[in-house]
Amino acid sequence: MIISGTQISRDLREEMRLQIESYRQNGMRPPCLSIVLVGDNAASAKYVNNKLNAARQIGMDARLVHLPQTVSQDQLCCQIANLNDDTNVDGIIVQLPLPEHLDTGLTISAIAPGKDADGLHPLNEALLWRGQQGIRPCTPQGVIYLLDKTGITIDGKRVVVVGRGDLAGKPVAKMLLDRHATVTFAHSHTRNLHDLCRQADILVSAAGQPRLITAGCVKEGAAVIDVGICLQDGKLVGDVCFEEVEKKAAFVTPVPGGVGPMTIAMLLHNTLQCYLNQK
Ligand SMILES: NC(=O)c1ccc[n+]([C@@H]2O[C@H](COP(=O)([O-])OP(=O)(O)OC[C@H]3O[C@@H](n4cnc5c(N)ncnc54)[C@H](OP(=O)(O)O)[C@@H]3O)[C@@H](O)[C@H]2O)c1
Repeated sequence: MIISGTQISRDLREEMRLQIESYRQNGMRPPCLSIVLVGDNAASAKYVNNKLNAARQIGMDARLVHLPQTVSQDQLCCQIANLNDDTNVDGIIVQLPLPEHLDTGLTISAIAPGKDADGLHPLNEALLWRGQQGIRPCTPQGVIYLLDKTGITIDGKRVVVVGRGDLAGKPVAKMLLDRHATVTFAHSHTRNLHDLCRQADILVSAAGQPRLITAGCVKEGAAVIDVGICLQDGKLVGDVCFEEVEKKAAFVTPVPGGVGPMTIAMLLHNTLQCYLNQK
């Protein structure tokens, strides 16, 4: 079965649209997402537009704070502080990557943790690792949501997560551990990757290496979640050799149309949570 992130994210966005509509009918203001974009990187501008449009489509207020490439760290943090203080703004994200002269960690730390719609603030990261309530990062949340909506039990399952990056691999592994999976990390120093992956009931690949996960890495009947995104010959591809893995796995996510659409849906979901927490 192909897990359609496109469809599942559409359903979730529709649920949120109806929820926001009912808040508006009750005289409440809509939730507001503010996106800070620095510079004129074309890819970043496109991602930001997609996020703004997705927010507006479900009835959110979506604002862009576009700063010049030459903005200083102080000026950037000052803009973020203004958004933190604005009671009409619920969620804030800074589009990454930033120009080289700016410090990503410092910038994300400047966002109020309660408005951190990407779930990347160090406080929210700490809450995740302590197993306490907080805003969770979007992509890992999207992975869990896909598994739940597909009816795949996580509790007690053997999971292998390929990749230990801060955005995807590490947090998704912790979230699966919190759902009582037995989780093993694999990374570029892992020996016998294929043998290890073949033990997984749920295999999550977040390496960013096209064709890393072949049918030989997959146990018959496993669920395979492809988080990787790479551009190859002008085409978006994941880590998984979809054509061969599809025949062996019980469930597999495609690229595009798998985890990717869930990331934006979860950004909106986090913004809605920030709004409800403020209320
Ligand atoms: N769908 C989405 O919305 C979404 C969101 C976030 C990220 N992504 C994608 O997910 C991928 C990972 O992102 P990231 O930010 O976590 O990247 P990252 O920080 O660079 O991490 C990549 C990880 O993959 C491991 N790795 C690389 N080659 C490997 C190999 N041959 N065998 C086993 N492990 C290998 C690396 O191991 P070492 O630690 O040993 O170097 C590292 O832990 C990228 O393709 C990114 O575009 C997608």
